[in-house]
Amino acid sequence: MTLIFKSGSDPWQDWQKSLKDAMPDLDCRDWDDTGDDDAVEYALVWKPPLGELRRRFRNLKVIFSLGAGVDHLLVDPDLPAGVPIVRMVEPELTRGMTEYVVLHVLRYHRLIPALEDQQKRHVWNVLPTPTAPKRRVGIMGLGVIGQDSLRVLSALGFALSGWSRTAKSIPDVTCYHGRDGLSAFLAETEVLVCLLPYTAETDNILNRDVFSCLPQGAYLINAGRGGLQDEDDILAALESGQLAGATLDVFRKEPLPVGHAFWDHTKVTITPHNAGTAQHWSAAKEVIANIRRIQKGQALLNIADLSAGY
Ligand code: NAP
Ligand code: GLV
Repeated sequence: MTLIFKSGSDPWQDWQKSLKDAMPDLDCRDWDDTGDDDAVEYALVWKPPLGELRRRFRNLKVIFSLGAGVDHLLVDPDLPAGVPIVRMVEPELTRGMTEYVVLHVLRYHRLIPALEDQQKRHVWNVLPTPTAPKRRVGIMGLGVIGQDSLRVLSALGFALSGWSRTAKSIPDVTCYHGRDGLSAFLAETEVLVCLLPYTAETDNILNRDVFSCLPQGAYLINAGRGGLQDEDDILAALESGQLAGATLDVFRKEPLPVGHAFWDHTKVTITPHNAGTAQHWSAAKEVIANIRRIQKGQALLNIADLSAGY
């Protein structure tokens, strides 16, 4: 019983130790040192080379995504047929994402970019500072991460709304859903936080039409995926003042190309797709718990819905 591991950046040894701590008899191997490919039953991967899962591992039972998003897997037209894909749902990844959302919502709410600009110019000027109940924050994507972010923003007192594909009911959050609910959701959103998955339906959803439904001078925070955003439309909305600022963790092309206009834009904050990352010491327990479920003949948790694309 072998698990094969492939990450973009995480040290393999840390994951191997955490996986072995949780299940000592699991043979854990790095992608480049698989041993017998036919013994591989589980793959824990981020962006595996296209076609390789199917070509190499004939006895694969489950593909575990190292990320919450599975678009990096679904891009492969040659995935092994009938093998379930499990999303990464683990408390520390969620915590990291919530930290990111709260940090950047508070930064805009408390006008930190404007205050930093004043400091650069040695200007002492008190800006109006309403408290959280007067700031309307809207989250696109009411899944694991969106709902955890809302929980903490709600504790801080923000006026909250959210948008999802199917109808939701969340205490203290005004919920909208579907394309029909989008413009009403946007109309009351001063800080727009995007935590959507990238699918055929959400491709390029952060575009000029969406920005034009926001109140003038709204802020955008995108920690979903780069494919959700039209980057030219973001630049145009910043230029016109429709958007007052954008904080982007994800980009159409990653790493963000050196010459991209975002790098030097005074109204853009860039982070290198590090809003939230699965932590081996926590995530390994979730992966092993799911493997134990298979061994007991129980249903897997957090299977991606391939027809919906997330
Ligand atoms: P999730 O639990 O699957 O939630 C996804 C949410 O998006 C759900 O509320 C879903 O609606 C909604 N949604 C999907 N398609 C939609 C559509 N066409 N219209 C409206 N709403 C739609 O996912 P999660 O664990 O919260 O993660 C969300 C995304 O965050 C991931 O897919 C990934 O792209 C991104 N992420 C980024 C980082 C980072 O470091 N930047 C880290 C982790 C995750 P329903 O509730 O109706 O299903
Ligand atoms: C990271 O981007 C993830 O999907 O977890």
